[in-house]
Amino acid sequence: MLVPAEIETGHLIGRPVRVEDLPHYIRLQTDPDVTKTLGGIADEATIKQRLNSAVGHWMAHGFGEYVFFSKLDPTHFAGRAFLRHKMIDGESAIELGYAYMPEFWGQGHGSAVAGLLIKQAFETLRVDEVLSFTLVTNVASRRVMEKNGFTYSHQGVYAGFPHVFLRLSCLAWQSAQANQRHL
Ligand SMILES: CC(C)(COP(=O)(O)OP(=O)(O)OC[C@H]1O[C@@H](n2cnc3c(N)ncnc32)[C@H](O)[C@@H]1OP(=O)(O)O)[C@@H](O)C(=O)NCCC(=O)NCCS
Repeated sequence: MLVPAEIETGHLIGRPVRVEDLPHYIRLQTDPDVTKTLGGIADEATIKQRLNSAVGHWMAHGFGEYVFFSKLDPTHFAGRAFLRHKMIDGESAIELGYAYMPEFWGQGHGSAVAGLLIKQAFETLRVDEVLSFTLVTNVASRRVMEKNGFTYSHQGVYAGFPHVFLRLSCLAWQSAQANQRHL
C-alpha cells in the first residue's frame, strides 16, 4: 500500500474499502437522494461489480477508495471517497470522487475528505493533476471541488448526461498551500 491505511478528519475516519463493505455499498447506492446525482439506483449486480473494481484498484495500484464512518459511532457508515485511475475521453486521469449518506451532508465532510485525498495525490502519489467531474446541476459537488482549488476545464457528456469537468494541478495546489502559509 502506497498510502495510509487510515485517514481521518475531525469527525470521520476512513479505511480502504473491502468486499465485506457490500451492505454499506448497497445502502449508499440504493438511496434515492444519493443516487439522484449518480445515475440513479443501481441493481445489486452492478453494485457488486463496482465494489470488486474498487477493491481491485487497491490491489493493482496501492491506493484507491476509502469508506468512512462517524468517529462518534464507528458503526455509522458515512460514505465513500476515492482517487482512482480513470480513462476518460481517451485521457488517462487520476479522478477524485465522493458520495455520502444524506445525514452527513452539509457539515463540511465532503470538502474535508476531498482536501485529504488531494494532499495524498500530490504529496504521496506525486501525480501532476487531479480531475473531477459532476452533473452540471450538482452544485454541491462542484462547490466541494472549487473550495479545494479545482477550476473549470470543460463541459462534456458522461454516462449520457451533461457533466462539468474541473482540474487541479499539483503546481496550483502547491502555490495555494504556500499562500495560505504566508497569510
Ligand atoms: C456532493 C456531496 C459529496 C457534498 O458533500 P457535503 O459533505 O455535503 O459537502 P460540504 O458540507 O463540504 O459542502 C460543500 C459546499 O457545498 C455547499 N452545498 C452543500 N449542499 C449544497 C446544495 N444542495 N446546494 C448548493 N450548495 C450546497 C456547501 O454550502 C459548501 O459550500 P460553502 O462552504 O461555500 O457553504 C454530497 O452532497 C453527496 O454525497 N451527494 C450525493 C452524491 C454526489 O452527488 N456525489 C458527487 C458526485 S460527482
